[in-house]
Amino acid sequence: MATARTPGFLLLFCRSCRSLRGPQFRAYAALVPGVSQVDNGSDFLGKKPHRKHPGILHLPHVQLPQALADAAQLLLFERPMRSIEKQVQALTNYLWSRHLPVEPEELQRRAAYLEKKVLEKQDSTQTEEKLHEAVLHALRKTTYHWQELSYNEELGLIYMAARLDGGFAAVFRAFHEIQARIPEFRPQTLMDFGSGTGSVAWAAHSTWGQSLREYVCVDSSAAMLGLAEKLLKGGSESGKPCIPGVFFRQFLPVSPKVQFDVVVSAYALSELPSRADRIEVLQNLWRKTSHFLVLVENGTKAGHRLLMDARNLVLGEKEKSPLDLQPSFVFAPNKKPKEEIFSMVILARGSPKEANRWPRITQPVLKRPRHVHCHLCCPDGHMQHAVVTARRHGRDLYRCARVSCWGDLLPVIAPTEFPPPSTAEEPAP
Ligand SMILES: C[S@@+](CC[C@H](N)C(=O)[O-])C[C@H]1O[C@@H](n2cnc3c(N)ncnc32)[C@H](O)[C@@H]1O
Repeated sequence: MATARTPGFLLLFCRSCRSLRGPQFRAYAALVPGVSQVDNGSDFLGKKPHRKHPGILHLPHVQLPQALADAAQLLLFERPMRSIEKQVQALTNYLWSRHLPVEPEELQRRAAYLEKKVLEKQDSTQTEEKLHEAVLHALRKTTYHWQELSYNEELGLIYMAARLDGGFAAVFRAFHEIQARIPEFRPQTLMDFGSGTGSVAWAAHSTWGQSLREYVCVDSSAAMLGLAEKLLKGGSESGKPCIPGVFFRQFLPVSPKVQFDVVVSAYALSELPSRADRIEVLQNLWRKTSHFLVLVENGTKAGHRLLMDARNLVLGEKEKSPLDLQPSFVFAPNKKPKEEIFSMVILARGSPKEANRWPRITQPVLKRPRHVHCHLCCPDGHMQHAVVTARRHGRDLYRCARVSCWGDLLPVIAPTEFPPPSTAEEPAP
């Protein structure tokens, strides 16, 4: 097993598309408590220019490995489908607008409420059967109907055409965060739950190809496993795999003793039919994690909620399992590459002290004349809206803030440790 200097932590990210404009923006600006001090203690810039400060983690562009793009194209070419563009768009929209399944308790609560409403409206002489029907009808009309997708060969190809690049980019971004912040981490083993097209293995190989020797792709769909294997072999069934050491499995390894340096679930938890299933899978994945558990979902409310639940579950689980000798903690939130809006949680084992020193920028950075608005998630979990100016915070921090993006780290020392200014912060003139 590989070792990491920081043996464990948790990383969280969700990106949403709201931005602040006009009067609302000004109102927020007036509430700013302020950022206090640039992290000069560690000479964080060294000889680097501000635009390359060490908190910058965003990736402007992510490209699919050429071999993967070629193999995907070949497979689509070999199996022409009618109106594929429309099907791709329909699946993209469907996945993006998907909600979490309604839990049975919630369904019961709603049914009881609707029954009361129906009884209030209608006369009490109607039969129980009719009442039942009316409640069911109202329930169907008002409840989100979550459906399990059956990833057969055709849906697999459509999914590949729709999501291969976006899925790859999001996971690559997550891996980049780990690599940039802990360059000495050299994972040897990886497991990908709900591996689908196998894009996680490709992203992991692009990041840690030198050290990784075993990639276990787990997917309940035999068609998806077959597709991933073909992609790996350049689009054929018999070619030489582009990445050595990739294994395909339909079930998670049974032994609780088998652990992997990196465990990933990308866009797969949202495929599980209930909260109970998600909890079971997550507990299993966390037990199988020796260093990092990377969870990626859509950058939607549903994706974010799912990952917050996952984070809370793992953080709350630490004393329950005898295998959990190393605790977990929040490492950071993060941001999307250009086209892909995603939520991400990376859970890991060990101590957060080093990894969590700087606050994370959680919204687009607003650059204004001589001041910059940064929304920060501080190491202690507090959210802070800071207006950074050169006069108040120094030229280094001001310039670093100006070149930073949503998802980057701002190199300031624990801003919440410092008392907020007595009057509302205003930008320097
Ligand atoms: C939306 S796809 C995600 C694929 C891939 N991770 C990616 O990022 O592109 C979800 C995958 O999870 C798989 N899946 C769903 N339920 C599963 C389960 N209980 N165990 C293993 N795989 C599952 C599906 O077959 C599908 O291939």
